[in-house]
Amino acid sequence: MDFLGIDRVVFGATDLGQANDFFTQWGLKRTRKTLNTLVFETGNGNQVVVKREDDRSLPAKMAAHQEFREVIFGLSKQSDFDTIYQNLSTDRLVEIDDEGIMHTVDDSGIHIGFRWVRDHKKERPRDTLWNSPGNKKRVDLISNVYSQAHPFKMGHIVFFVPDTKVAENFYRQRLGFWLSDRYVGGAGVFLRWAKKSEHHNLFFVKSRTDSLALHHIAFEVDSIHEVFGGGVAFSKKGWPTEVGPGRHPISSAYFWYFKNPLGGAVEYFCDADFVTENWKPHQYRVNRFSEWHLIDGIEVKDDGKLRPSLKGAKEIDQQKKNAMAAPVKAST
Ligand SMILES: [Fe+2]
Repeated sequence: MDFLGIDRVVFGATDLGQANDFFTQWGLKRTRKTLNTLVFETGNGNQVVVKREDDRSLPAKMAAHQEFREVIFGLSKQSDFDTIYQNLSTDRLVEIDDEGIMHTVDDSGIHIGFRWVRDHKKERPRDTLWNSPGNKKRVDLISNVYSQAHPFKMGHIVFFVPDTKVAENFYRQRLGFWLSDRYVGGAGVFLRWAKKSEHHNLFFVKSRTDSLALHHIAFEVDSIHEVFGGGVAFSKKGWPTEVGPGRHPISSAYFWYFKNPLGGAVEYFCDADFVTENWKPHQYRVNRFSEWHLIDGIEVKDDGKLRPSLKGAKEIDQQKKNAMAAPVKAST
């Protein structure tokens, strides 16, 4: 199977205005707005679709407390689309809608779909030039500064499931996903959709309540500069941190998670490991969520002391001049 990625995620919403603010301030481009539907895109064209929660075209909620409805995977070849249709049709209802998107339900109960992407955007991601000891790539140039993130793509999606083995078997045996790493005892499994891919594109976590839920959707950005700059900007707009920033030992990525008002979290991440058929899956026994992380974001104080304005600098100069000019009292 030649998966292009997460082509689309679908949410319902009672407050489309809030959803509009959340995803545009997250850094997605709004490409469609009607009375009932909002569509947002990443740099490479992956879509977040939000529809009014009572829209009859929406799949049912997966968890009562969340508005997540469906994830659609993109495929580069029609032959792969046809193979999946034939395979999954053998033991479940599979429907193709007017857009040509195939919809079904996986063995955990998650609404999934597939789309043959004929109009795949091949936009180049932005480059980040790094200087390290003995290796200077950025010469006579100031490095990137981000006052707003613009996620390039959706890199992975994570779910709580009742049984990670059921989830793993479905994606590996029916859709050709690869095992990247796992936590022993069924606590969690990291899967990728191709032998050469980012460390994980799907991660299933054992639910303590044996119920389904969206954990988070991860949006890839250029670099740690964009994770921090974008995260600070998003925080300043008032959106609360779920956890972060920080760094994962598994996948090596830097991260910053924010609470999604429609359920679960959204994550800025960068610099994830890229693995091939030579990768040897690990069997982790203890939680390796982070090398380090902040619990509640970064508080940015902009009191002007570190970066005086021109007016502030002139006032400081004037105070010094006044002090120099002041008459010196005669000593007795
Ligand atoms: Fe993640």
